[in-house]
Amino acid sequence: MSATASLKNTGLEGVSAGNTAICSVDQGALIYRGYEIHDLAENATFEEVAFLLLIGHKPSASELETFKSELVGARELPEPVIAYLTSMRHALDYRTAVPMDVLRTAVSMLGNLDKDSQDSSEEANLRKAKRLTAQIPTVIGHMQNVIDGRELVQPDASMGHAQNLLYMITREKPSDEEAHVIDVSLTLYAEHDYNASTFTSRVISATLSDMHGAVTGAIAALKGPLHGGANEAAMEMLKEIRGDIGPANDTEQIRTWMHRAFQDKRKLMGFGHRVYKNGDHRAGILHKLGHAVADKKGSDAAKLFELGEEVQRIMETEKAIFPNVDFPCGMTYNVMGIPVPQYTPIFVAARITGWAAHIMEQHANNRLIRPVSTYVGPELMKWNG
Ligand code: CMC
Repeated sequence: MSATASLKNTGLEGVSAGNTAICSVDQGALIYRGYEIHDLAENATFEEVAFLLLIGHKPSASELETFKSELVGARELPEPVIAYLTSMRHALDYRTAVPMDVLRTAVSMLGNLDKDSQDSSEEANLRKAKRLTAQIPTVIGHMQNVIDGRELVQPDASMGHAQNLLYMITREKPSDEEAHVIDVSLTLYAEHDYNASTFTSRVISATLSDMHGAVTGAIAALKGPLHGGANEAAMEMLKEIRGDIGPANDTEQIRTWMHRAFQDKRKLMGFGHRVYKNGDHRAGILHKLGHAVADKKGSDAAKLFELGEEVQRIMETEKAIFPNVDFPCGMTYNVMGIPVPQYTPIFVAARITGWAAHIMEQHANNRLIRPVSTYVGPELMKWNG
């Protein structure tokens, strides 16, 4: 015990908090169950990746068909959850709640109404994982329609997972290219070993608590701007730069803006990573796809990417800090017409597969997660003198 010891935390940097067969995050490569992320982004659909994560192997053609139809069949929401989403219009308007908060409560409610809610067997967990994967896009779509004051768009059974998600938010049938870009972004976001939200879900499930509870906690952890909330924060930062310097993308003005941010010790959102100190494998993949969409959308969208690239160049040359996946994600979702507060909920729509895989892995190999801390508080005292 020492009253003078520091309260500064290490954030468990570099500490292995457990074993997993789901994912490996390393500067050399990002791997989901043995498959490298560039390979998956190029050759697999999100549904295939979801199957891989949840069930543990690459699906056969018939396994994939069954899995896809199970997801399509589970998209609709129970009436009380729809009523809850509708009732949140004012809270969302006044921003006492943001979409991540509403999604968190909706997932918790889905647990209250799920017939397997108190069953954490392997079979029940897998059923719940599929249902949550199918339902979360509908929560996001309905919520956006509530925000926009429009009638709810029903899920379209003829559309794949990513295309339907985008359709329910924007109310327009996405082009094949846009559907593909969202699909790849879901693959990139699906899993990332013991990141903060996944670790949260494992801590909760290690008490033998249920899947919906663990996912509800994980959503709360993902919301923060140091984690999943960074995709929204990155886009807000680019909007702020644009607002301050105007539309010309003048390099010297961008540099001055950034120097001021450095002086103010401001964190630039969408940059840096606890593990990837030399760049995030996912960022380049999404940047390329997003920029191609932007080029087709017109000069304003293309200029957003040019601004982002200039910010990135300055950050890399002056600070040696690289963009993480949230930086291109913010710009990509923006040029596709997705409202900023839905960027992190879309991250949830992808990461639900990774969380659920970890919850199932934890339940199947459980030991309570209970570390210790180092006490740095006051020396022992007597209450009465
Ligand atoms: N902008 C400016 N400086 C930075 C940034 C940044 N984005 N990231 C790291 N640094 C600096 C930091 O100030 C520190 O400098 P110094 O040693 O002089 O004090 C040094 O780099 C080490 O940073 P750190 O905060 O100790 O690193 P960390 O491993 O604890 O944090 C991080 C990682 C992701 C929280 C951090 O880089 C950050 O806050 N980034 C901005 C938020 C963000 O983009 N989060 C998304 C994370 S990745 C995907 C996801 O989870 O969604």
